[in-house]
Amino acid sequence: MTVLAVQEPSLVVLCGPAGCGKSTFAARWFRETEVLCADTVRGWLCDNPAEQGINESVFEVLHRIAELRLANGRLTVIDATNLEASARLPLRQLARRARLPSHLIVISADLETIRERNQRRDRRVDDGVLRGHLHMVEHLDAALEKERWGRIDRIDAQQLESAEVVRTTLPPVRFEEEGPFDVVGDVHGCLSELDTLVRELGYDEDGEHPEGRRLVFVGDLVDRGPDSVGVLRRVLPWVEQGRALFVPGNHDDKLARWLHGRAVKVTGGLATTVGEWQQLSAPEERLLRRRFLAVMKEAPHYLWLDGGRLLVSHAGLEERDHGRTGDAVSAFCLFGKTTGKVIDGYPERLDWAADYEGAAYVAHGHVPVRLPQWRNRVADIDLGVVFGGDLCAMRWPEKTFVTVPAEKAWWGGGRWGAAEPADTMTPSDEATAG
Ligand code: UTP
Ligand code: MG
Repeated sequence: MTVLAVQEPSLVVLCGPAGCGKSTFAARWFRETEVLCADTVRGWLCDNPAEQGINESVFEVLHRIAELRLANGRLTVIDATNLEASARLPLRQLARRARLPSHLIVISADLETIRERNQRRDRRVDDGVLRGHLHMVEHLDAALEKERWGRIDRIDAQQLESAEVVRTTLPPVRFEEEGPFDVVGDVHGCLSELDTLVRELGYDEDGEHPEGRRLVFVGDLVDRGPDSVGVLRRVLPWVEQGRALFVPGNHDDKLARWLHGRAVKVTGGLATTVGEWQQLSAPEERLLRRRFLAVMKEAPHYLWLDGGRLLVSHAGLEERDHGRTGDAVSAFCLFGKTTGKVIDGYPERLDWAADYEGAAYVAHGHVPVRLPQWRNRVADIDLGVVFGGDLCAMRWPEKTFVTVPAEKAWWGGGRWGAAEPADTMTPSDEATAG
C-alpha cells in the first residue's frame, strides 16, 4: 500500500492524464471544499465542464480561490491535468507567496488503463487527447528536474485505489508539546556556563528534570566561545533522544554549510569552531559531523509549541509567518528582519517586535541584549554570554528568566541590541554576526 503524507496546510497539485483517476482520488481523500477542480469551474463559467475554450478564465478563478484559501492557511488541492510546465509554474508561485509547501502528486498510467477508465464514465475525452496527454507524461520527468517542488510523489493509476493519504502538520507546528520548558538563549560555545545554568534549572547530567521539564535551545550553540565542540557533545544527545528541543541559529547553519563543503568564509566566530574541529581525530570528526548534520536536518527553523501559545525561533518570527514555511520564513528565523543593507559591517535589522501583536509568546535570541524582558509578548533571551554577559533561560509557562553570568568575556565586542546606548556598540565581527 502506498502512503502519501500530505502536509496541512499546503498546496497539493495533482498531475496526470485525463481519465487516470485524479478526481476520484481527490474525492476519496479530501473534503469537497479543499478540492479545486478545473472541470467544476468550467461548469460554473459556461455550464459545460468539458469546454476548453475558456481556460484562461477557468484558471484565473482557480488560482484566485487557491490564493485566498492558502492565505487563510487552508489545505488546497488542484484537480486538473497540470501536464504542462506553464500550468504548474503559477501554482508553485502561489504556494511560495503564501509561504506554504508545494506538493506535486504525479499519477502515471498506460494507454489501456486510461482508455478503459475513460470509456466507463459519462464524460468521455477523445482518444487523440488521451494520447496527447501520455506524450506529455513521457517528458514530465525531464521537466520536473528543473522545477522546485517542496515534495513530489509518484503513483501509478493502478495503485490509486489502495493508496492512503495521511495528513501531517508542518514540521514547526508542535502544539502537542506542552512543556513545561526552559528555553535557553545563544550558548556560543560557553560550555561551563551552560552546565551551570542547566544545573541551576534542576536538570541532571543527562538533561533530565525531575518534574519533566524540557530544555529548548534557541540556536547558536557554536562559535566564538571556548568549547563549541563540547557544547555540541553535551546538547546533541539530548536532542537526538528527544529530551531537549532545538532550533538552529545562523552560526549553526553556517557550520553545517561548512561541513557540507559549501563555499563559506571561515572568519570571525566560525574560525574558533573550525579550529576545534580540526583537533578532532578522524573517527571523532566523522561521528560528530554525522550527528550534528542529522540534528540540523531534522530541526525545523522554528517551533510552535504548547497549543500555539509559545513560539521559539533563533531570531524570532512575525505573526504572519506563524505556521508558514519556506525560504523567506527560514531566513527570518536565522537572521531576523533585515533590509538587505549593511551598516558598519552588520546587516541592518528592523525592530519587528516593536509592533508585534501576535497571540503567541515568542522567545528568541540572535541579538545580544543586557536584560531579558517581555515586550509585546516577545522576549530576546540572548544575553551575550560569550561577550561577557549572561546565559539566560526563559521558564515556560512561568515566563520568568534565569541567568548565569559569563565566567569571562570570551570574545570582544558584540553588537548589543536595542536597549543598549549606541556608544557601547563595537562592531567587530562578520556581516552575518548575531
Ligand atoms: P476520474 O474522472 O477520476 O479521472 O476517473 P480524472 O483523472 O479526474 O480525469 P479528467 O482529467 O478529469 O478527465 C476516470 C474513471 O476512472 C475510474 C473512475 O471511476 C472514472 O470512471 N477510476 C478512477 C477507477 O476505476 N479507479 C481509480 O482508482 C480511479
Ligand atoms: Mg477529473
